[in-house]
Amino acid sequence: MTEALRLGIAGLGTVGGGVLDILARHKQLIAARAGRPIELCAVSARSRGKDRGHDLSGLTWHDDPVRLANDPSVDVFVELIGGEAGPAKAAVEAALRAGKPVVTANKALLAHHGAALARLAEGKGVALNFEAAVAGGIPVVKTIREGLVGNRLGKVFGILNGTCNYILTKMAEEGRSFADVLKEAQSLGYAEADPTFDVGGFDTAHKLAVLTALAFGVEVNLGAIDIEGIEKITLDDIRNASDMGYKIKLLGVAVSGPQGIEQRVHPTLVPKGSPVAETDGVFNAVVVKGDFVGDLMLEGRGAGAHPTASAVLSDVIDIARGSRRPVFGVPAHDLRPYEAAPPRAHEGGFYVALSLLDKPGAVAAIARSLADEHISIESIVQRGTSGTDAPRATAPFILITHNTVERNMRAALERIEADGHVASRPRMIRIERL
Ligand code: HSE
Repeated sequence: MTEALRLGIAGLGTVGGGVLDILARHKQLIAARAGRPIELCAVSARSRGKDRGHDLSGLTWHDDPVRLANDPSVDVFVELIGGEAGPAKAAVEAALRAGKPVVTANKALLAHHGAALARLAEGKGVALNFEAAVAGGIPVVKTIREGLVGNRLGKVFGILNGTCNYILTKMAEEGRSFADVLKEAQSLGYAEADPTFDVGGFDTAHKLAVLTALAFGVEVNLGAIDIEGIEKITLDDIRNASDMGYKIKLLGVAVSGPQGIEQRVHPTLVPKGSPVAETDGVFNAVVVKGDFVGDLMLEGRGAGAHPTASAVLSDVIDIARGSRRPVFGVPAHDLRPYEAAPPRAHEGGFYVALSLLDKPGAVAAIARSLADEHISIESIVQRGTSGTDAPRATAPFILITHNTVERNMRAALERIEADGHVASRPRMIRIERL
């Protein structure tokens, strides 16, 4: 049989453990599909003594992942350490410089240094594969880079963070608080070590930055993303949205239009019954709009040891088969410079929640502020007042707008706040009418 492909894996945490499980359980299957055996020959991780439930005795151990990357017995370097800099970056660069193919699950590294690493890999003529970096087990990278290669893509968006989707789903279904559900997500192993990474929208932004480069053939530009997390979403927002026919999801959205590229991450109202709205729990969903294929949605597990490891293995097997594609779908030197659409030019519907001071003229003043910014209202709900010491009593006042430009919406909200008819800052959530 053909010589084995020898892997060096740096990082034996959740995903690393999952990769060891698949390599052990599917040894024959993998060899048959790859056309050659795939063997783990060396590893690197933080604590050598830790029991990982796998026998590592026959493997070379390196404390330093850079040494692992340079180990001559390693054919393919698999980076599962994480982090945009430090040992992960140093080791990936070392492996590429040594002319070794790299498989990584590191979205932060790619979001920050994707274009430079792609140039390095392509300059050396080796693969840099990262299916596991975006949406865990969903093969979205291959879908865009290979399956949809004949299309021009205009939009890619989706639920890219399982932790946020789990939290929003549980809040909606069980009426539980944000903090309570976050704790549960952490105990289930979905959340990042620092949960602000998930709930603040940064994890989604990293994945979106990578998808944008792939989808539109542009340089990765994380800094251009307008990011808003789910920390401020209340149970009231979720209930109000539900009453009006929507669910709230954290979406990453990238659009390529005549004015340039728009990338945003924010909580979003999506119509109940749409495929994205029905993607619940820890599941992720990615929708791609191509000019010939039309709309396409992939749904699956975006986090967890085995789904993510499944993506890592597919990248490794590609390398074993001798398959190598341009890292971001077009040769790195041909990636177009990123041209940003003007800020706040996005056009869509908006959910606005106001705490209205219950006195004559309040609704009229709000209607005037909206009309002055050419904003048309689709629906309004005013609930009963809370508090008895009128005129300080407030009434929750919820409205949904027809499509409008975000800049106008924000200007109207500033006017509404300045007018003195609301007791607190207006809250606004964008709507995607899918
Ligand atoms: N923390 C991430 C999520 C895991 O919740 O989706 C994979 O990026």
